[in-house]
Amino acid sequence: MSGSTVRRVPIIAGNWKMNLGPTEARDFAASILADLGSLPSVERVLCPPAISIPAVHAVTSGSDLRLGAQNMYFEEKGAYTGEISPLMLQGLCEYVILGHSERRGYFGETDELVNRKALSAFAHRLRPIVCVGERLEDRDANLTERVITTQVQGSLAGLPAERLGELVVAYEPIWAIGTGRAATAQDAADVVAIIRALLVEMYGAVAAGQVRVQYGGSVTAANIAEFAANPDIDGALVGGASLKPEFVEIVRKTAAVKGA
Ligand code: 13P
Repeated sequence: MSGSTVRRVPIIAGNWKMNLGPTEARDFAASILADLGSLPSVERVLCPPAISIPAVHAVTSGSDLRLGAQNMYFEEKGAYTGEISPLMLQGLCEYVILGHSERRGYFGETDELVNRKALSAFAHRLRPIVCVGERLEDRDANLTERVITTQVQGSLAGLPAERLGELVVAYEPIWAIGTGRAATAQDAADVVAIIRALLVEMYGAVAAGQVRVQYGGSVTAANIAEFAANPDIDGALVGGASLKPEFVEIVRKTAAVKGA
């Protein structure tokens, strides 16, 4: 089934990673907000480091610029040194990125852990942006489909089908992250089709058709139009370029190309 038959609101999210403390984050968010103005056709989300979330929230609350966290633990509270809970994010964030390849690679996050976090996000009315993506070795060995299948089936098991419209999946090939070597829109669309077919198997066509699937990896203002032009790619998860005024241009170009 093509994912293009259902109308999904495009979503551009900026993952600031470990950049911008509270003061810088607040000032940058304020400038993005002022530059973007009102643009209801594309959802846009800023994902600051946890410590900067309240400062950014102070300037974005009441606007249509949404906030996301970059990670969270699945428990509500307790002896989990260094972790942030879903209860702490409620009221500040609408979204939470889970299972980013940097969390999987540097911090040992498994599909099982990502799944527990995704279930917890749903239970706490936070919308998960769950990341999947293959390594260059996997792609070169023709293992992309197998790797993506394992990650999707493992990370996204047991979610409430009737609320699947709250789920965002980010396809982020690891070799494209921070390398300046973006996937082609066709390569990205091929993997997005695999992801959606897996979701159809797991949740049925109607629920799966509501999930937004983004591309991420070296997205810039210069290449966003190619990705946005594909009806099966519902936006982008942007790293480096989201730390620059270029982020505004990426949102504008998405709105222009999606014709929304
Ligand atoms: P870059 O856009 O810097 O390649 O990062 C992508 C990413 O990891 C977003 O989560």
